[in-house]
Amino acid sequence: MSKILILFAHPALEKSRVQSQLLAALRGLQGVTLHDLYEVYPDLNIDVRHEQSLLLQHDIILFQHPFYWYSAPAIVKQWQDLVLEHGWAYGSSGTALRGKRMGNVITAGGPETTYSKEGWHHHTIADFLLPFEQTAILCNMQYIPPFTIYGTHRLTPSLIQEQAVAYRQMLEQLRDEQTRI
Ligand SMILES: Cc1cc2nc3c(=O)[nH]c(=O)nc-3n(C[C@H](O)[C@H](O)[C@H](O)COP(=O)(O)O)c2cc1C
Repeated sequence: MSKILILFAHPALEKSRVQSQLLAALRGLQGVTLHDLYEVYPDLNIDVRHEQSLLLQHDIILFQHPFYWYSAPAIVKQWQDLVLEHGWAYGSSGTALRGKRMGNVITAGGPETTYSKEGWHHHTIADFLLPFEQTAILCNMQYIPPFTIYGTHRLTPSLIQEQAVAYRQMLEQLRDEQTRI
């Protein structure tokens, strides 16, 4: 069984319709650690050693966040800039994360059809997440394709619930499957 660390980032969780339900769905899931970055670091003053120690204790790292300006909320960038140190996460002696897996769990306002070459946004979500994918590769990690919930503005409460159940199932599968590395 793999241990999953969810690095969660939502700067306005009190207004959330979708991410809040995803959080509710993963409550009590064995082997899954939820780490709410804005709750722990409201001033973005990230404790690098604590974060690195959390990473070492887990096999799969998921950034869970709303899609903001084709990327993640600011604290995720701050986290990456500070925690993924040269000589620790990457570089010739930076092997701490080798063999782990990393991915994104995204909610996006835009409908799925808008995220294509011909669509309104001209690129897929996976295209926009390329910096995450390459960061994983640089750190000798395997990148997991994103779990994406599209068109959040038009999702009814029951459709949000369906997505939340699918998310919980995805996490269980990820946790229980045999790693290919
Ligand atoms: C600052 C900001 C930037 C956003 N940028 C995007 C974007 O680039 N693409 C997109 O599809 N939706 C974008 N959205 C919509 C959010 O992704 C969407 O409202 C959110 O994922 C819904 O989840 P929630 O109910 O948990 O907040 C943006 C919203 C905000 C507030």
